[in-house]
Amino acid sequence: MKITIAENEKEFDTMAAWRIIEQILKKPSSLIGLSTGETTKGMHRIVSEIYEKYPFDTKETYFFNVDELTNLDRSYEGSCYAMIKKQIVDPLNIPEEHFIMPPTLSDDFERECRIFEEKIASLGGADLQMLGIGWNGHIGINQPGTPFERETWVSPMDPIFEERVRRETGVPDDHELGGLTRGIVNIMQTKKIILIAKGEHKADIIKKALEGPITSDIPASVVRLHPNLEVLIDRAAAGKI
Ligand code: GLP
Repeated sequence: MKITIAENEKEFDTMAAWRIIEQILKKPSSLIGLSTGETTKGMHRIVSEIYEKYPFDTKETYFFNVDELTNLDRSYEGSCYAMIKKQIVDPLNIPEEHFIMPPTLSDDFERECRIFEEKIASLGGADLQMLGIGWNGHIGINQPGTPFERETWVSPMDPIFEERVRRETGVPDDHELGGLTRGIVNIMQTKKIILIAKGEHKADIIKKALEGPITSDIPASVVRLHPNLEVLIDRAAAGKI
C-alpha cells in the first residue's frame, strides 16, 4: 500500500486532479470511476481548469460514478449524474455516451445493476477508481456490514446522508430512497484504486480503515487487499495514523 500525504487541502486537490489527468494522458481510452461529495469537488474543478487552459484529448475517455441515488429524478442537483456531469463531464467535453451511469428511476434496479456492470465490462473494466470514504467507512454506498462479496446492488444510504437528501428534496419518509452502488467485489476489480480523504473529520475513519482489522464493519478496510492501491490524503486526514 502506498500512502501519499498532501501538506494541505489545496495540495491534496491538485495531486488528486493530476491522478485523473495522468490516467487520461497515459491511456486516452481509460474508463475512470469517480466519487461525488465534498472530497472530490475541488479536484474535479482543478481537472476542468487545467483542461480549459491546456486541453488534452478526451475523445476516447469514459467516466462513470461509483454510485447513484435511486427513486429520485436525475434532475435533482444532488444526483450523482447531475453533479459529475456539471463538475467534470461537461467541462471536459465528454460525450453523453461516454458517461456510463445507471438511471435513478426504474422498475427493475436489479436489471439496471446488471446493465451498468455489463457496460463497464464491455469497455475492458475500470482502469482507475477515485474512491471516497464515508464517515462510517462506507465506500460507494456500501454501508458497514456489507459483505465483501457483494456485487453491484441497491444499498440503504447512510442515515445522515439520507436525511440531507430528504431535506433538500422534500421527499417524505414513506418514499423509499436508496443508492445503486458498485459492489465491493466490483470496486476491487478496478485495475487501480486511489482511496481519497481530506480534513480532520476523516482522521478517525482513516485510522480504522488503514490500521484496524480488515472487516466488513469498516467497508473501506477492504482496499488494503488490493494489489494496486494508493491512499491519497491530506495532513489533517492523516492526523491519527
Ligand atoms: C457519499 C458518496 C460516496 C462518498 C462519500 C463521502 O456517500 N455516495 O461515494 O465517497 O459520500 O463524501 P464526502 O466526500 O462528502 O465526505
